[in-house]
This record gives sequence, C-alpha cells and structure tokens, in this order.
Amino acid sequence: RPVVFSGIQPTGSIHIGNYFGAIKQWVTGQDDAENIFCLVDMHALTVPQDPAALRAQILETATVLLAAGIDPAKSRLFVQSDVREHGELTWYLSCVAAMGQLGRMTQYKEKSEAQRGEVRVGLFAYPLLMAADILLYRTTHVPVGEDQKQHIELTRDLAQRFNAAYGGVFVLPEPAIPAAGARIMGLDDPTKKMSKSVAGSYHAIRVLDPPEQIRKAVMSAQTDSGREIRIDPARPGVTNLLAIYMAASGTSAAEAEAHFAGARGYGDVKKELVDLLVETLRPLRERYAELAADPATVHELLCAGADAVRPIARATADAAKRAMGVGS
Ligand code: TYM
Repeated sequence: RPVVFSGIQPTGSIHIGNYFGAIKQWVTGQDDAENIFCLVDMHALTVPQDPAALRAQILETATVLLAAGIDPAKSRLFVQSDVREHGELTWYLSCVAAMGQLGRMTQYKEKSEAQRGEVRVGLFAYPLLMAADILLYRTTHVPVGEDQKQHIELTRDLAQRFNAAYGGVFVLPEPAIPAAGARIMGLDDPTKKMSKSVAGSYHAIRVLDPPEQIRKAVMSAQTDSGREIRIDPARPGVTNLLAIYMAASGTSAAEAEAHFAGARGYGDVKKELVDLLVETLRPLRERYAELAADPATVHELLCAGADAVRPIARATADAAKRAMGVGS
C-alpha cells in the first residue's frame, strides 16, 4: 500500500497556492494510501518567529487542514516537534550529505539572500530535516507544489547514498505534483510565487478570506497589456488567472481557453474567477468556524496523531542507527 507523507509550515495563513498545490491532493487521495500529514514547526524556526504567534499558528493551520477535509479516520495529522525522531534522523543524514548539495538548493539561495545579516545554520540544514520527515515513514509519494521538487530529489539522493553506504534502510520517495495549480503566482506580481511571507493585502488569497476580500484581490490582480485570453509565458498575469481557474474548476488548459473564448476581456475572467473561488472555499470557511470553536478537540487530535506515527518513526530511526553502527 502506498504511503503518502507531506508537510506544511505553520507560519501564516494558508493560501490558494498551498491549497491547490498540495492540500487538495492530500484530501482527494486519502482513500488510496496510508496518509501522514505534518505541521513542520521545526522548519518554521529556520527564520525568526514570535513564540506566541507560532503556537497559535500551529493550531490554526491544523484547524484549516481539518476544515479542508483531512479526515482523522483516514489520515494521521501531527506536529513535527512532537516526534523526536525527526531531529534525530536529521543528524544522521547530516553525516551523509555534502555541503555542496545543500548550497545548491534554490530555496536556500533565495531565503539566505533575503535574510540580510546572518544566515542561520538551520536554514542551510532545512532540506535534511525535510528528508528525515519523509524517510522516517517509508514514504512512497510526497504530494507537493512545484517549489518542493528539488528537495524531494535531494531526499532521494540522500536515501541512495545512505543505502549504498550502510545497506537498504530507506525507501525512495516520488514527488506527486498536480497537473494544475502546482505553482500559483502572486496576484500583485505574477512573476513571483504566491507566498505566506509576502506582505500586502492583494498578494495572496487566503483560504479563510471572506468573499469581499477575495473579490478585491482578484479584481485588482495585475494583468497584461492586450486582451487575448490564453496561456502564454509572455503574459504571466492572465496565465496565472487561468492557472487558478484550471485548478479550481478541474479543467485542462485547452478547456479553460475554450471556456473564455467569448470573453470580452480580463474583467470577465476575473469576475468568473471570484465566483468560482468564493464557492470553492465556502465549505472550508464554514467548517473552519465550527472547528475553531473547539480548539481542545483539535489539540487532542494532534496528540493522537503523534502517538500513532511515533512507532513507525522509531523503527526507522533504530534501523538507521543499527546500520551506521551507533548505539549500545
Ligand atoms: P510550505 O509550507 O511552503 O508549503 C506547503 C505546500 O504548499 C505548496 N505551495 C505552493 N503550491 C503552489 N503554488 C504556490 N504558490 C505554493 N506555495 C506553496 C508547497 O509546495 C508545499 O507542498 N518544505 C515544505 C514543508 C515540508 C515538507 C516536508 C513537504 C517540510 N517537510 C516533507 C513535504 C514533505 C514547505 O516549506 O512547504
């Protein structure tokens, strides 16, 4: 049976990039695999965080995932730092990984440039912790957006290096990247990836945004000169609107272009996209309001999730230890 594992940083409100790029796949695939989803709070620490805000975000992010349809009867949901083996395996992997491979990671290069002044060791080691997350659970499939593909390739490489040196301990995971929505761009600047950490009220659409906010953000989205409605790298604005439309409606590029063949301009596309997004996100927002009224239940679920996955993580960490010759 396939094992699906994926993670999300609890560092800000979840947006439609996270939703269409990753979470929607987590929800729809739940019947076909063993599913483990992780709130990666230790990854969040690689950039400065306010402790009280981080704690609140962990619970909010968990609540959003449940509201989106993660079903505790089918999937384990837990907080990374509640399972000590993640930190433990990171160390063993750091003794297999080369500095050069980590230095080549795009996300590290971007974030270390943005982080003026000192770059922390944790930011550099970030992909090792991510590899540990994945490898601990003998994961076969990792549903993620396009930006995480490089980290999964690194994970495979580390698993191969380890297995070659010490024997076959780890399973090699495959990335699972959706056909539509794998890379949603910012509405204020369609050349930059939509991101939790970018400020500005019209950059991202958060899944909990009320309809009026969704309308304002979509209507103010940057478009291109001209009025042709088709997917074209030279027209990143309309291409992004179509990408969001495709992801939300489940249509192909050809179907989306055909759908808007009679539109008079970008305004028509935007109006339809507002309605589609409001309707797509409505159930999530309503369910969130119910679940958020009972934070104790969400907390209990996270504790039960950690209890359920810990033995799997322990078994893999012990196998890695034995293979490497450490321990008493
Ligand atoms: P994070 O928290 O940045 O994002 C969570 C998921 O959302 C996807 N995503 C996007 N997809 C499409 N368009 C976008 N603009 C967009 N922005 C984000 C991400 O690809 C991701 O799937 N390193 C990971 C978290 C992580 C993880 C793991 C993932 C830690 N350990 C193990 C998988 C397996 C991250 O920072 O995701």
